[in-house]
Amino acid sequence: MIDKQDELRETANRLATKGKGLLAVDESTPTIGKRLAGINMENTEENRQAYRGMLFTSEGLGEYISGAILFEETLYQNHADGETMVAKLDKLGIIPGIKVDKGLRPLEGAHAVETWCQGLEGLAERTAEYYDRGARFAKWRAVLQITADGCPTDLAITENAWGLARYARICQESGLVPIVEPEILMDGDHTIERTAKVQERILTEVYKACAENGVFLEGSLLKPSMTVSGADNDNKAGSEEVAKTTVRTMERCVPAAVPGIMFLSGGLTEEDASVYLNTMNSIDRTSSRSFAFSYGRALQQSCLQAWQGNDIVAGQKALMARAQANSEASTGDYVAGSQPSSQDTLFEAGYKY
Ligand code: 13P
Repeated sequence: MIDKQDELRETANRLATKGKGLLAVDESTPTIGKRLAGINMENTEENRQAYRGMLFTSEGLGEYISGAILFEETLYQNHADGETMVAKLDKLGIIPGIKVDKGLRPLEGAHAVETWCQGLEGLAERTAEYYDRGARFAKWRAVLQITADGCPTDLAITENAWGLARYARICQESGLVPIVEPEILMDGDHTIERTAKVQERILTEVYKACAENGVFLEGSLLKPSMTVSGADNDNKAGSEEVAKTTVRTMERCVPAAVPGIMFLSGGLTEEDASVYLNTMNSIDRTSSRSFAFSYGRALQQSCLQAWQGNDIVAGQKALMARAQANSEASTGDYVAGSQPSSQDTLFEAGYKY
């Protein structure tokens, strides 16, 4: 039995507060490098500090954002003014979290595009240290893919579901709320119905593995991809169908004890990510738990473009606009187009985080 159940439940409920969501800023060093390159900045520690320091001093951000997922470097980093990044988040009322997986590796014995997620070795020691540093929740990104020639394979589903459950249990022993993230990439030309079938199977396996490992569901969160058509499908489902199918999938497969479902944006544009979420929160569903967001690209694209490495005011304003849009979308109150957004395509084939 996990000792810290009360604390885990309380943290999970705070993260899943209605009208709030998560800011995913845990890009690995190579991935944040790509973002910085997009605005002609070098991928130095100083520039990463400047960027994340700008995000974490956006006044009022805690009104829309309950938690921020950090990369390890950021958890131990100071703002340029000498205060820790953790203290900056605390001041905004935002709970710091930490990405604890160590990235994807090819899954030998499965299909060539399939992966497993490493990082279990030494995880118990690392999570204890992260907790001491102020982190209260964690993320582990497992990735699955749909192809016309057999993906996801049984092996990939079994391995990734088990890894997520082991990770979740280990985090809870240290007092960190695990975000369970079985992402299904949008790559491919499959229909939304195929995504739904595959996602039902994956979520069922994930929660079976969680049960076998004694994961305390009330002290955990789910971070799924939305149930969408493949990026290359010629007849892509629109927001109504995405919302209905996603809600149906979640209600069929996610135990009611899980307090929040925090969707990733997965390559959707900023505006689509908000509109799809808003539609989910505007239609009838049986559960009342939070359907919210844990967006990376869909919260940062226009912010990066506005910031350009030196315009803090413009960067923070753009971040606040998308944070507010997604906060409103989490309660079904977002009016499409009422906040500025970037029109950039954020989809990248075979996305690595
Ligand atoms: P995107 O919203 O950019 O998909 O990223 C969220 C995330 O944290 C993926 O693990």
